[in-house]
Amino acid sequence: MGVRIIGTGSYAPEKILTNQDLERMVETSDEWIRTRTGIRERRISDKNTAASDLALEAARRALDSAGVDPSQLSILSVASVTPDHTFPSTSCILQHKLGAPVTCACYDVQAACSGLLYSLQIAVSMLKCRKNARYALILGAEKLSSIVDWTDRSTCVLFGDAASALLLENDGSDEPDMLLSCILGADGSHSSKLCVPAGGSAMPASRETVEGRLHFIRMGGQEVFRLAVNAMTGASRTALQEAGLTVDQIRWIIPHQANKRIMDAVASRLGAQSEQVFVNVDRYGNTSSASIGICLDEIVRGGLVRKGDSLLLTAFGAGMTWGAAVIRW
Ligand code: UT7
Repeated sequence: MGVRIIGTGSYAPEKILTNQDLERMVETSDEWIRTRTGIRERRISDKNTAASDLALEAARRALDSAGVDPSQLSILSVASVTPDHTFPSTSCILQHKLGAPVTCACYDVQAACSGLLYSLQIAVSMLKCRKNARYALILGAEKLSSIVDWTDRSTCVLFGDAASALLLENDGSDEPDMLLSCILGADGSHSSKLCVPAGGSAMPASRETVEGRLHFIRMGGQEVFRLAVNAMTGASRTALQEAGLTVDQIRWIIPHQANKRIMDAVASRLGAQSEQVFVNVDRYGNTSSASIGICLDEIVRGGLVRKGDSLLLTAFGAGMTWGAAVIRW
């Protein structure tokens, strides 16, 4: 039974925060941000918008693009590091807003920027083992502006808000799966290098945690950079090998959009041409679990992929987690 991506959708809030805007907020410069990261601008939600609201727009667009009604969904997942609440899950809140049925399994995935790749493998597996499950909608949805320390120039220039959605179908036909290979990995020994220290059971919220700004993103940028390049390159090589493909046979490489320099380094180590790498970090910044789905949506809506094309998706994020998947469109 073949599982395929039949719809894509993405959404980013209208408000644009440019590098010039950031120059007025912290000691930074457009030149530093552009040359170190490739980012020119990012989108920021208003204070009444939650991750589930961003997800709702992306979900509707993905469903509309395939002509599928929310009532037909069997599986709904949201990957996020900025869920609406600690609990209940953002997917349950989205289910209600979207009008998905109570027979739909709803769950959140926590794998940071690798969340969409983890979600993809989970959903493909679930579509195969859940009886009568035909459609799965998987999302990455992030309101990162809610956990960014706007006084920390080393992190606040990097992140943006957005959501993306992929609609998967198992139509029970003899068509082969679109997922040719999927490599997932993690190394928890690096968990403190990129994290929000407080707010969980290890360090519950208190006056001290708020005053110490411990509810915001903390990152050791240089080390994360090095780990990201190694992990995405390694996972991509294995995913290509398992799919029986070489890098020149890949139409698009879609890396998690964290930093243009990271993407360039991964592409160069893989021996890929820069034209093969899809980049939109300049317009959105790092949107964590949403980034790969936004790229895919732009590629599909831009008519940049044809049936039979092979795509390599690869991600890296807090955990540390990573992944790579080869998809035959
Ligand atoms: O989503 C997945 C996880 N995240 C990532 O993948 C991010 C990975 N890391 C990175 O992308 C890069 O490490 C950064 C973009 C975060 C930083 O770039 P870098 O080339 O590693 O810079 P750095 O941290 O080594 O800092 C170089 C200098 C420092 O000044 P000194 O000590 O040399 O005087 C920083 O204080 O740049 C300074 N700096 C800034 N200057 C202007 C740091 N942030 C800024 C800033 N504007 N926004």
